[in-house]
Amino acid sequence: MIRQTQHDNRNELQQLLNNSRNTLIIFENYNMETITALSFKQQIKQGIPNELPSAKIYETDINHAPKRKEILSDEEKKLALQNALRYFKPEQHEILAKEFLAELNDYGRIYMYRFRPDYEMKARSIKEYPGKCKQAKAIMLMIQNNLDYAVAQHPHELITYGGNGAVFSNWAQYLLTMKYLSEMTDKQTLVMYSGHPMGLFPSHKDAPRVVVTNGMMIPNYSKQDDWEKFNALGVTQYGQMTAGSYMYIGPQGIVHGTTITVLNAFRKIGKEPKGNLFVTSGLGGMSGAQPKAGNIAGCITVCAEVNPKITQVRLDQGWIDEKITDLDELVARVNQAKEKKETVSIAYLGNIVDVWEKFDKEDVYIDLGSDQTSLHNPWAGGYYPADISFEDANEMMANEPELFKEKVQETLRRHAKAINQHTAKGTYFFDYGNAFLLEASRAGADVMSDNPTIGKEFKYPSYVQDIMGPMCFDYGFGPFRWVCASGKPEDLAKTDAIACKVLEKLKKESPEEIQQQMTDNIQWIKGAQENKLVVGSQARILYADAEGRMKIAKAFNKAIKKGKIGTVVLGRDHHDVSGTDSPYRETSNIYDGSRFTADMAIHNVIGDSFRGATWVSIHNGGGVGWGEVINGGFGMVLDGSKDAGRRLESMLFWDVNNGIARRNWARNEGAIFAIERAMKSEPSLKVTVPNLVDDKLLADL
Ligand SMILES: NC(=O)c1ccc[n+]([C@@H]2O[C@H](COP(=O)([O-])OP(=O)(O)OC[C@H]3O[C@@H](n4cnc5c(N)ncnc54)[C@H](O)[C@@H]3O)[C@@H](O)[C@H]2O)c1
Repeated sequence: MIRQTQHDNRNELQQLLNNSRNTLIIFENYNMETITALSFKQQIKQGIPNELPSAKIYETDINHAPKRKEILSDEEKKLALQNALRYFKPEQHEILAKEFLAELNDYGRIYMYRFRPDYEMKARSIKEYPGKCKQAKAIMLMIQNNLDYAVAQHPHELITYGGNGAVFSNWAQYLLTMKYLSEMTDKQTLVMYSGHPMGLFPSHKDAPRVVVTNGMMIPNYSKQDDWEKFNALGVTQYGQMTAGSYMYIGPQGIVHGTTITVLNAFRKIGKEPKGNLFVTSGLGGMSGAQPKAGNIAGCITVCAEVNPKITQVRLDQGWIDEKITDLDELVARVNQAKEKKETVSIAYLGNIVDVWEKFDKEDVYIDLGSDQTSLHNPWAGGYYPADISFEDANEMMANEPELFKEKVQETLRRHAKAINQHTAKGTYFFDYGNAFLLEASRAGADVMSDNPTIGKEFKYPSYVQDIMGPMCFDYGFGPFRWVCASGKPEDLAKTDAIACKVLEKLKKESPEEIQQQMTDNIQWIKGAQENKLVVGSQARILYADAEGRMKIAKAFNKAIKKGKIGTVVLGRDHHDVSGTDSPYRETSNIYDGSRFTADMAIHNVIGDSFRGATWVSIHNGGGVGWGEVINGGFGMVLDGSKDAGRRLESMLFWDVNNGIARRNWARNEGAIFAIERAMKSEPSLKVTVPNLVDDKLLADL
């Protein structure tokens, strides 16, 4: 009967479509008791429950994804429903079809809220997961961590960060994936197609346990609206970088990276952070780290945010010191902080454009300026237009998308104009990899360079061009991280101590070129406990180069073998030396024209997969937007075994040196130095090194 509705009776479905627009239908309770009586392990092993769980109430006290714009035709909505219903038994289709359609109409996506599990969503100790293999249990732990309410931005929509960075597209995918992981042996590999678990396939012990792809599209179908459409159809998702690869560890990762950026930006302009002003925006998933990083670096930070809920969260969390809602008050407070050379972080609740304009008018000198609104996602809540209230902007976004787009572009032009006024007075402005310059240029703002060359199209550099690229990535320093799967804080403290010891020893033998990075990282790891940055799993981030990563990992594996600590999961952000090809961000300091290619990221993930990664991932889109980047990453479980020792050496060496080799071929000085050093340490590494051409020769041609 339901199948008939699905396939034969189109009128009935059409009627359903017409009747249910803008209504969330809540259905009668189904076997709530059966579901909750099961233990955590049983619920995981059960996967999608046989009997329908009760419908869920839409909780309003939690942060939800904004309604996505209407993108599907009525015919396409039927396809989206068919796609969603294929996870369920036909006898459940009648109820679910209506419910899913209501979700599609009300939120623009089918999340399958009813199937959200009733157990607490958080990373547990690895021992608490059901299963036949330790590696799979570690992956379950990481998945749950990415959906933890304390970690995820929109946990009910399975979104970890960046507004649209999804772990899965719907709850059926989550349930099925966890079930597969609980069944898998170490001779199987789980294949993930953009959140959908295609299934377990036979493989072997050294193969990755999970291979993840997210958002991989035929290149000509990889634009913003393509994402809206194919995501709404339920066939692809935007995995951001570490969300869809289960490697997000909460805000700590980004605090470390942002601290390094702010510190090095001040070094670049030859100023001490103390008493000097950094102006930026966004208190969201990643951007929220800016004020905290500003405090660690020691400057005055003003960070604008339009969303009152998010601002309050950061204030409660202690990541901002003060909140100000009035521009005159803000000016007075900043002037006072400058005078007293304070270290303070101030949130301005309102639009960033108003801050830039007001500071220009009142002559408040800005030393460093940037922006971290989500311009990779400009039309769906990533960037709010000026002179419109937050609520009205949300309405306009859903109901008048074309007008919203106009308002965003108008604001971007104003935004750039105000920045230009400041930079004319001496402010150092950098793009924070959020596609600010790209979108501003598309809006016709005055951001193009007077003398554009490949890689230097804009007036302003990106933070990778000026800071992270030449100072860190070219030398192999990137966001290495680990998670203590026991869940014990004492394990994390022990790993911090091990890592610190390794780094201190390495620093003594390190060349002058990387002394500054080594010093910053030792300082970070020493202060890590004190900064209390753990949210969710017991995780740590530490910028390290290939040698550092390998030596730290080896020391961990030894400590696990001796029973000093439990299992450790290694990983990294995709925002790294080798994993990501992103012409306006990670690879923006590549000037040989190859920054629009993606060979490095693809090689990276393939190479990692056969050198021992426990899971690998490759994504289209992340950070700067759908179609703008290809990025990949890995996870690796250390269990103290010889196998783990062998895998870590082989994989980590490749994982970093692949990118250094490419950066070296692009004639980046630091990378030429680093790859030559790597070849000396490992004679079987043989990399092609570029011959440099005398500029004069070309000038004379
Ligand atoms: N932190 C980093 O190191 C880093 C690195 C690379 C890229 N990025 C990029 O930074 C961007 C932000 O990431 P996120 O996770 O914080 O995203 P997010 O969506 O969680 O946060 C962005 C915040 O900006 C606010 N906002 C939007 N328009 C505004 C405006 N006009 N004025 C004031 N506030 C406004 C939003 O309300 C939101 O809270 C992304 O594009 C991300 O890719 C960050």
